[in-house]
Amino acid sequence: MKKADPASDNPAANTRKVFVKTYGCQMNVYDSQRMADALARDGFVETSTPDDADMVLLNTCHIREKAAEKVYSEIGRLRQLRARRQKAGADLMIGVAGCVAQAEGREIVARAPAVDFVIGPTTYHRLPDVVARARGGEKVVETEFAVEDKFEHLPEQQKRQVRSRGVTAFLTVQEGCDKFCTFCVVPYTRGAEVSRPVAQIVEEARRLVDAGVREITLLGQNVNAWHGEAQDGRQWGLGELLHELARIDGLARLRYTTSHPRDMDDALIAAHRDLDMLMPYLHLPVQAGSDRVLKAMNRKHTGDDYRRLVDRIRKARLDIALSGDFIVGFPGETDADFEDTMRIVRDVSYAQAFSFKYSPRPGTPGATMDGHVEETVKSERLQRLQALLGEQQAAFMKSLEGQEIAVLLEKPGRDAGQLVGRSPWLQPVICDETVGKIGDSVTVRIERASANSLISSEAANRRRAA
Ligand code: 5AD
Ligand code: SF4
Repeated sequence: MKKADPASDNPAANTRKVFVKTYGCQMNVYDSQRMADALARDGFVETSTPDDADMVLLNTCHIREKAAEKVYSEIGRLRQLRARRQKAGADLMIGVAGCVAQAEGREIVARAPAVDFVIGPTTYHRLPDVVARARGGEKVVETEFAVEDKFEHLPEQQKRQVRSRGVTAFLTVQEGCDKFCTFCVVPYTRGAEVSRPVAQIVEEARRLVDAGVREITLLGQNVNAWHGEAQDGRQWGLGELLHELARIDGLARLRYTTSHPRDMDDALIAAHRDLDMLMPYLHLPVQAGSDRVLKAMNRKHTGDDYRRLVDRIRKARLDIALSGDFIVGFPGETDADFEDTMRIVRDVSYAQAFSFKYSPRPGTPGATMDGHVEETVKSERLQRLQALLGEQQAAFMKSLEGQEIAVLLEKPGRDAGQLVGRSPWLQPVICDETVGKIGDSVTVRIERASANSLISSEAANRRRAA
């Protein structure tokens, strides 16, 4: 079927709208922005709702079964929206990108014929071409791993677009993963580990800062495995890259995520000691506490390796807070194994954490292992783990009460007279507008911690006065 082309019956031509819906991780958030940038060249502007969109692009996540299923429910809703549009003589193009696109490819158009095109995460630079072919009536499935560098071919972000996204930005420095944890689909959906070159990263960071960005979070599935060749021919790791980026005038904060314990090298730990602008917050998933389970997961570290690593990091940077990912009910996990997870959580103490029931992913070694754990047992374990992690998170938040902390002001608050910023440990901080303007890094005193945010003394005073 040939798609109606709203641009062709519109003399202004530049008014096509795309709604990009992002699922899953921060790498998808970054990719969605870069896809929007690529489509902007084709005259698409972003909209925040499917209701007035000419194209909906779902940027999907395949990490757990639930995440993948959500995509099909969304396509069902979009199919109805398109039917309504067609009745009114218009149309809606539907594209699926991201890790479900990569993993399921052609199956998506077989199961959901409403989908016009499917594009995998390594080929986003080909998006305008894919859209043009789909508009010509072809069902396009573009999931071959690209041989050319997608980043080299994606258009630069425009200043105006960067500005509209605020003072914090993501910057992907590394994609893919060679670790092959036995539960994880990433090595299959994102492919082998690829590091972007130093010069490309530094240039993108400079452009972001020129457009007003004050905080950059470097992203990668295995970000601390990033490596590259410096101008002088030396091999750099993430520690050296962070030092280089810290020299950019106007940049106030750096972060990176997600790290694998095996790739935390000395230079990176030293960067936490030496760079004030590297925020004292580290997402360092351990996944489980039992050595037997860690081995079955192919994590390549033991519980004690992880404990020793955390000690070294904490010695380098006293105020560092950790966050983590945990999986309960991996095949073969016994009650005793699970208690080891609870023990490592007590030993390390996390400021924040994400925890999940094991979800077998087709094509991964875990899916065909013996000893799958019953759902009810997984649920009980998850509940206990989350209760403990919740207590630790609340204790961390409470420990900030009465303290003076640095806040990067990001946006207006919900109530008049407020600005919301972030602490070094990523919590939203509600501030009074008199403390500074968006983009400023200010110091405020924390009066109170609620479940997920902190309130500064000035903002608390204004509330009392109101
Ligand atoms: N089941 C449950 N959780 C998973 N994760 C990755 N794969 C699975 C799976 N099959 C979790 C891990 C990882 C996070 C991004 O998602 O904890 O760190
Ligand atoms: Fe998945 Fe393990 Fe690679 Fe992380 S390190 S992306 S969990 S395979």
